[in-house]
Amino acid sequence: MRVVKVNLKQDPYPVYIGENILPAFGELLRKIDFPGYLAVITHPGLKELYGETIETSLKRNGFSYFTIQVPEGENTKSLHQVEALYQDLISLKMGRDSGLVAFGGGVTGDLTGFVAATYLRGISYVQVPTTLLAQVDSSIGGKVGVDLPAGKNLVGAFWQPRMVLSEVSVLRSLPRRELMSGIAEIIKYGIIADDRFFERLDKNMARLLPPLDGKLPDFEFLEEVVEKCTRIKADVVEKDERERDIRAILNYGHTLGHAIEAATDYKRYTHGEAIAIGMVGAARISTTLGLLGDEDFRRHISILKKAQLPVSCPSIEKGRILNALKLDKKRKENKLRVVLAVKIGKVKIEGNIPDKVIEEAVDYLRVHKPQV
Ligand code: GLY
Repeated sequence: MRVVKVNLKQDPYPVYIGENILPAFGELLRKIDFPGYLAVITHPGLKELYGETIETSLKRNGFSYFTIQVPEGENTKSLHQVEALYQDLISLKMGRDSGLVAFGGGVTGDLTGFVAATYLRGISYVQVPTTLLAQVDSSIGGKVGVDLPAGKNLVGAFWQPRMVLSEVSVLRSLPRRELMSGIAEIIKYGIIADDRFFERLDKNMARLLPPLDGKLPDFEFLEEVVEKCTRIKADVVEKDERERDIRAILNYGHTLGHAIEAATDYKRYTHGEAIAIGMVGAARISTTLGLLGDEDFRRHISILKKAQLPVSCPSIEKGRILNALKLDKKRKENKLRVVLAVKIGKVKIEGNIPDKVIEEAVDYLRVHKPQV
């Protein structure tokens, strides 16, 4: 089992990563002195697969617990669902000395974390992420929240978990496309922070890709990669927990990526696929502005193609992407703030990009099929 410590001044916490560590869940909760009365929030498919393992471990360690099931899917990240959960917690007589367990992907983690942040002005929670995307990104760093009809993640808080347990073997039950969505965020970490890690990923991509032949993926490598991404994210969050400045680098590829997701009504691409295209767009803006060299641009395309992720979006109407960019919530003084690459392993935040440079990048993604 690997451990990464998120060394926040106020609320440091461990992230445990490994294969077959879920049976030790109860022991690990004891170690952090987690409340003895808790509710596990999950969805039915996961309860069926792993409910018994979790319950046995909780029972063995003397926890009193309830399981609350929520439906799978982004619609669950709503204020309506939050209210339903508050009602459940009230009925279960959960007080400030009780705790929540988010057992699921990003939706379950964000929702449970938000309920934990706000119920009785805040109770303890832990994250047990079950998708690759949640293991390398959303479960770490304390961003929690729900969607509004007007947009995603418009209501939320920073509320750190007391512990994260990333059991890599649960990724076995993850659909191939979901696993690959997580790989886009993994590549992002190489680009924003670590050229050597990027190189290692580039050389070993085949070990990460879910095989089509039914053999198991390389869990040892997956574990190493989840640990590395967790370390990078923890370092960034330790420097800037509330995204006052540097934490924004984690959004590399996300400005255009989010716009592409919104322009296609969140239906055509997974989050990771949209981020892959968004990273090509960010790299294109970076080269146009003379920040990023051609070779590093080529390396972007090459690694994303190796990961079988899309690198362009030819059939989306340009106006839809530009409209979605206008609604970007990370604007400052009505200017888009975009994370740009300087080289593989180093990025910077730029708040003053001419509109025509952004439009050119959108054209590039729509018209070109980048070659390597
Ligand atoms: N997913 C970006 C962040 O946690 O800041």
